[in-house]
Amino acid sequence: MRTGDDAKHSLRKRQTIGDASESVLDAHSFSNPDQIRVDHISLDLEVLFEQRVIRGAVVLRIANPCAKYGNSLILDTMDLTIDRVTLKADGGQDQPAVFGLGERDRILGTPLSIDLRGDTKLVRVEYSTSPNAAALQWLEPRQTAGKNLPFVYTQSQSIYARSWIPLQDSPQVRITYDARIRTPDGLLALMSADDNNDAPRCGSFSFKMMKPIPSYLIALAVGDLAFAPLGRRSGVYAEPTLLPPAAAEFDDIEKMMTVAERLYGPYRWGRYDLLVLPPSFPFGGMENPELTFITPTVLAGDKSLVSVAAHELAHSWSGNLVSNATWRDFWLNEGFTVYVERRILEEVYGAHRATMEATLGMLELQREMATLDERDEIMHVELQDRNPDEGLTEVPYEKGALFLRHVEEILGRRRFDRFLRRYFDHFAFQSITTSQFVAYLHANLLDQEPGLASEIALEEWLYEPGMPLNAPRPKSGAFDDVERNAQLWLEDRISPQSIDEGSWTTHEWLYFLRRLPESLGGQRMQELDQAYHLTNSTNVEIACQWLLMAIRNSFEPAYHRLEEFMTAIGRLKVLNPLYRELVKTTAGRARALGIYEKARSGYHPIAVASIDQILRG
Ligand code: BES
Ligand code: ZN
Repeated sequence: MRTGDDAKHSLRKRQTIGDASESVLDAHSFSNPDQIRVDHISLDLEVLFEQRVIRGAVVLRIANPCAKYGNSLILDTMDLTIDRVTLKADGGQDQPAVFGLGERDRILGTPLSIDLRGDTKLVRVEYSTSPNAAALQWLEPRQTAGKNLPFVYTQSQSIYARSWIPLQDSPQVRITYDARIRTPDGLLALMSADDNNDAPRCGSFSFKMMKPIPSYLIALAVGDLAFAPLGRRSGVYAEPTLLPPAAAEFDDIEKMMTVAERLYGPYRWGRYDLLVLPPSFPFGGMENPELTFITPTVLAGDKSLVSVAAHELAHSWSGNLVSNATWRDFWLNEGFTVYVERRILEEVYGAHRATMEATLGMLELQREMATLDERDEIMHVELQDRNPDEGLTEVPYEKGALFLRHVEEILGRRRFDRFLRRYFDHFAFQSITTSQFVAYLHANLLDQEPGLASEIALEEWLYEPGMPLNAPRPKSGAFDDVERNAQLWLEDRISPQSIDEGSWTTHEWLYFLRRLPESLGGQRMQELDQAYHLTNSTNVEIACQWLLMAIRNSFEPAYHRLEEFMTAIGRLKVLNPLYRELVKTTAGRARALGIYEKARSGYHPIAVASIDQILRG
């Protein structure tokens, strides 16, 4: 059989960059969509909680069956057990296929090569997942809010769909899917798709996604879930006790949808529901189509953290409708989405809120850039031989958003809005590369107006490290009042109690805390804590910032809370900075190891991999 290396080699030779229907080189997939393309999959899966296994079959439909393509179909897999592969021609009988697994690559998993016949239309693979599947987190009842029933969910982005489905796991390949999912009685199964499951929870569910999506958007969750409507086409799922606070927090979703539609065209996915996951969910949110997965840590009670929901909703245009073709092009997903997210926030909550978030975002970008290798400051990032998750920095997000803000400022809002809306229409349901974006930008904007291209400095933005000199800055002044208070307090001209924080929201507090010197000293930490009880803050962002400061300043009264926080929450944006800060000192490293020992079994495999790396390094 062909090994993965052969497969990659032949792919590399075939590299093309053309219109969106052609294939491009994807360093993170063994699959060969340039030769054979799958355009639909049917899943028939059983969720086995006791064994921590998903078992069943996938039928892959070949879009271009043709005698001359009578060769191997290469699928991505990761830790899957393949039991049987059969082929079917149009109207024909199932026939056993010759197949083989290649060598396992430490990042990419294992290629599964299947010999096709010229007339093969359908390929059926019977398989089961490993209990350690990278995409799956299996939760015991005690790890859920209800404590009664188990929970399992997937996280397919970036390259983990292959750990629960053998498929062409490259975002340039778009597929529709249908699924039948069997579960124990009493649980609800949900997927990133239409469902038709009003029936009681008798253990069988079916789904259909009729819009072509990349594989990283296939998602499944099973648990004790209840539903509350938010609007005519939106709602929220959560464990029953979390449902009322969740419905209150996300109460503006319908408004956000209306705003986004006015700016960027109709919402094309039918329903928009949110699913509140257990606190171990490794991300803030995940834009699974029709069903955003979201961390319960955004339930702050005051809507101050709903930008995560706005962000995931924004992906319904940027990311899900127009997707990155490879993980090098990730900024096309995230930079556009942060830009759109802030436009939504501006319309729903006002310009001041959007400016505060943009300012905090820029500060985070600057802070992170100071720690990155130059190669990772480049938006079109080099990820060859690397895990695509290494590209998960503020660069694709905040530098990407600043780039779009920059183009907006040069063109004017009206013109840029029109451009973006046409861009989403033009590439709707396609996956594109950075160079396809550049070609579109030239054809539809730059080439029409001499001087525009050099004014924008496109190449510098996309292909060079650092921040271009012409980078926009969020409107200044948003935090002037906070700035003043911080200074007065640091100069001992006011007591901590006299800080004028009466009208401060989460954003002002974050700015205030981040603006303080890193070595604030135990005395000042103590003063602040006494006045504002920051150690006990229930706001995840404020608590995280405060705990970082507690580590830096060896502020012991917060250590208990630190451990509790890092054990209860599995969100990487929170955990990574805390673990990184801890390992900077010998005592901190010991503390980190102690916490990790207790917490590890409650984290998602993706979080475990990330923290293992911090503690190893
Ligand atoms: N799609 C991302 C999450 C993601 C990216 C998961 C890459 C795996 C690999 C999602 O839309 C996202 O960006 N989430 C952010 C929240 C957002 C408000 C910046 C997060 O999880 O922090
Ligand atoms: Zn995102």
